[in-house]
Amino acid sequence: MLFSSKLIGKHGRLVGVDISDIKASLMQEVEKQCHVKLLRANIMTWEAPEVLRDRFDVVLSDVAPRTMGVKALDGERSFVLSSRALDLSYLLLNKEKRASCAVIKIFQSELSPVFEQQAKGLFQQVHMFTPKACRKQSTETYLIASGPVGL
Ligand SMILES: C[S@@+](CC[C@H](N)C(=O)[O-])C[C@H]1O[C@@H](n2cnc3c(N)ncnc32)[C@H](O)[C@@H]1O
Repeated sequence: MLFSSKLIGKHGRLVGVDISDIKASLMQEVEKQCHVKLLRANIMTWEAPEVLRDRFDVVLSDVAPRTMGVKALDGERSFVLSSRALDLSYLLLNKEKRASCAVIKIFQSELSPVFEQQAKGLFQQVHMFTPKACRKQSTETYLIASGPVGL
């Protein structure tokens, strides 16, 4: 969130959502910039308010479960969270802009093709991408989706 808040500059607007209490120091640094709003909420139950819907150019999600070290279980929990992030992205993104896009982290598992298929129902262009910077032992990968359908 800190990185994104710097990237968007003074004229951008950023809303961050996390279930945990973001460290006070980070909070202060980010929130002293008046164009940034942090919300503490569980995305599984959070209803994106009407005022935020269709308003965003970009949604970034690196939501992740607390890992248990059991790949199948971690993969399933990541799938549930990331699928919700995908639905929220669709609600929040500006559907009048073809370039509106979502970048969402997911742990690779047998469910990741299902996740990709869900995204193809909501976006015109969908790619899976694993940055070189990801650790070798990590299963994380990223969905990049643009052009929310309904333009
Ligand atoms: C890898 S960290 C990402 C941190 C984030 N990039 C940042 O800049 O603070 C994963 C985050 O997902 C959050 N998370 C996990 N489950 C969540 C849920 N149900 N709703 C909202 N946030 C959740 C965790 O609290 C954690 O901060």
